[in-house]
Amino acid sequence: MNFPDLRLRRLRTTETLRNMVRETNLRLDDLIYPLFVIFGRDKKIPVNAMPGIFQFSPDRLGEELAEIKELGIPAVLLFGLPEYKDARGSSAWDDNGPVQEALKRCKDTYPELLAVTDVCMCEYTDHGHCGLLDAQGYVMNDASLELLAREALSHVRAGADIVAPSDMMDGRISEIRRALDEHGFINTPIMAYSAKYASGFYGPFREAAGSAPAFGDRKAYQMDTGNVNEALREVRLDIAEGADMVMVKPALPYLDVIKAVKDTFGYPTAAYNVSGEYAMIKAAAARNWLDEERVVMESLTCIKRAGADMIITYFAKDAARLLRKNG
Ligand code: PBG
Repeated sequence: MNFPDLRLRRLRTTETLRNMVRETNLRLDDLIYPLFVIFGRDKKIPVNAMPGIFQFSPDRLGEELAEIKELGIPAVLLFGLPEYKDARGSSAWDDNGPVQEALKRCKDTYPELLAVTDVCMCEYTDHGHCGLLDAQGYVMNDASLELLAREALSHVRAGADIVAPSDMMDGRISEIRRALDEHGFINTPIMAYSAKYASGFYGPFREAAGSAPAFGDRKAYQMDTGNVNEALREVRLDIAEGADMVMVKPALPYLDVIKAVKDTFGYPTAAYNVSGEYAMIKAAAARNWLDEERVVMESLTCIKRAGADMIITYFAKDAARLLRKNG
């Protein structure tokens, strides 16, 4: 040990020093908290595979929003569970739908809380696919675009600050951009779920959002797990069509994709720490197999270190509490 320069442990000796030289710090402003809004009144229904997560009817959302606000979380991502479903998913643009109702309440009470909405058809179609089907059960691309644009417009009219299309149809960003611009919403940003993989990690979400496909899977529109060059093509196209922010989803198993996207485009990049990633940690922690607080902060810091500017996570409230406790 003749080379004092090589003593890298020197900067690890105290907590203060470690805090001072840390390269990546999770911040409250990085967090987006997903919320499931169900039709009806006086409902707060627990989601089985996601302990701590509930479906709220719009009238019960107040208590949750107050907590989010109090914790200092800057943004929520809204999903809807509508009263009725049909082949076209027409409840998606019902101005009295659960997301639209929630938006009105949210904006009335907490105008500065950013309300992002998930724009997709799978929660609203009776077949559970993310667009319109042809006779063979194939999701038709171009015919689905108009529906997505109607949904996005309905959300923005109800008060959405940002729309986040998650359907993975080609051309949806330009279609939605055009619809918003035509109606004067030129300053409403689009957060594109650009590199969204056909993932087994969405399992618990489909219970939470009631959006499991009635047959087949989503592999004909969501991305194949093995692909990263294709993710860059998806992001490039969405940016060219007018996306203001891009997203990689899921997060932890796809950190290399987050890094490639951030390094290549330098765009505001979101990562979605999805339901299955949440459920795994919750399940292990419930058995005392993992220290939940530690692995939550470790996971979110790793997602940020990979290049995410924003992290959509069911752990947002826990992380906010831990940031306060440790900060
Ligand atoms: C809607 C949508 C899904 C998720 C977000 N938006 C499910 C899917 O594509 O099947 C997954 C989120 C999660 O697992 O937490 N298309």
